[in-house]
Amino acid sequence: MIRTDLFATPIWQGPIKLNNDLLVKFFNKAKELNYLAKNKSSVNGSEQTEDIAISKEFSDTKKRIEYMYYQETGNKVNMGNAWICKNIKGSMNEIHVHGNTDISGVYYIETPENCGGLVFRNPNDCVQMGTRHFEKDLCWMGSYIIPAEKGKIVFFPAHLPHRTQINQNEKPRLALSFNLRYI
Ligand SMILES: [Fe+2]
Repeated sequence: MIRTDLFATPIWQGPIKLNNDLLVKFFNKAKELNYLAKNKSSVNGSEQTEDIAISKEFSDTKKRIEYMYYQETGNKVNMGNAWICKNIKGSMNEIHVHGNTDISGVYYIETPENCGGLVFRNPNDCVQMGTRHFEKDLCWMGSYIIPAEKGKIVFFPAHLPHRTQINQNEKPRLALSFNLRYI
């Protein structure tokens, strides 16, 4: 018989070399200039910059991420927007999706111990109601957690619901998030 993974949900994760010092500088500068967004998904305090993908200084980082996605998938993409999110102890981001884009992603800049991973929720609501036979196949899994690890990048379909776990460390978690569009 032929198996078809209909409506499959691919995610990619792996290391990438990006300039962390530059990204930290970006965050600090944005804070200094009050270039901060009101983050709708944030709970218990976190700070998020406005779009930094428009900055010339960010262009090398942008190209590296776009190229990595191309290398992995063969699809050319353009980064529409990007922002840096700082999550202090006790904060998290509630479940949400990213609209009007194709692929979303995150890159971890600073990840102290127990700073909270990324949780993907199975977009099939029926799975949330029923018995989860995920030991047989991933498609029956209710949720899937990716640990936050410094230097790791994750790509996922923008429509995939996700949230973060609570940062339990005194030190903040710092991450770069972005949206990519197919071209
Ligand atoms: Fe998100």
